[in-house]
Amino acid sequence: MDDRHTAADAVRAGLTAARKSLPPFLFYDAEGSRLFDRITELPEYYLTRAEHDIFAAHGDAMVAAAAARAGGPLTVLELGAGSATKTEVLLRALVRRQGRTRFVPADVSPEAVDAAAMRLACTAPELDVRPCVGTHRDAFAMARALDGPVLVLFIGSSIGNYDDGPATELLAEMRGVAGDRGAVLLGTDLRKPLDVLLPAYDDAAGVTAAFNKNVLARINGELGGRFDLDAFRHVALWNDEASSVEMHLESLCAQRVRIDALEMDVAFEAGERIHTESSHKYDDARVARLLEGAGLARLAVYRDDAERFAVHLAGAASTAR
Ligand code: AVI
Repeated sequence: MDDRHTAADAVRAGLTAARKSLPPFLFYDAEGSRLFDRITELPEYYLTRAEHDIFAAHGDAMVAAAAARAGGPLTVLELGAGSATKTEVLLRALVRRQGRTRFVPADVSPEAVDAAAMRLACTAPELDVRPCVGTHRDAFAMARALDGPVLVLFIGSSIGNYDDGPATELLAEMRGVAGDRGAVLLGTDLRKPLDVLLPAYDDAAGVTAAFNKNVLARINGELGGRFDLDAFRHVALWNDEASSVEMHLESLCAQRVRIDALEMDVAFEAGERIHTESSHKYDDARVARLLEGAGLARLAVYRDDAERFAVHLAGAASTAR
């Protein structure tokens, strides 16, 4: 199945459901990846800076803890690597410890992975970069074909875009790929007051709104959709029961939208929403449940000084010491 089919199937399923939704993977075409990079630099989007601070302060300790279990050189697999900017701090710590290091940046966006590979070739020539353009499944297959223990990075609170069931399954796959001597490094955003959380998903400059609406532009470009982007507004809201910030696109009027490639018309009532993303926010107990459910034991947890974000190092429960 190629990407266009995957996107087409997801759009058809999501827009014909009783409660309309579109899966977050659709955000990340070239334009969406570019907009996401801009989000990470916004004053309101604290997540990236908080996690970067953690890597800067604790990168050597994380690498030492992971290397102590490995007993040999670790390969680093980063899922959803994007431009891999934050990872560089950690990769440098690993190179200091074990010398030449194999790094597999994996992402659905070829532009993002190419940019990462080109930048790292200049700034960190000690890395043996093996880019992987594809899904998590493709990345796992590639990592399984390599020898030695793997340090799997799933950072940036990407896990937060999964509900707990699929998140646990994904973590269990990471445990399998890491192997008994490898480890998983998981970044999680923490619950915090709404006056901090909501602006992070509804910034003053409107970059997150553009990122959200880009999914409609993508449907227009790739599937012959006729969405008028001005006829929808970006909504970010807190779902307390799920402990997540949700993003929606709300139709500003009653309208029918044609999608040529799917031979369908989608009817919207005024005020009807398409749910485009949940970003779960965690406390310690919830992360512990996810890890345990995936057969992982937490080896260490690192937080930034302001306790906005946490990075967990975990290893297969059977071999964790
Ligand atoms: C990629 N993911 C962790 C981001 C998040 O915070 O959930 C995506 C994002 N959505 C809006 N802003 C950023």
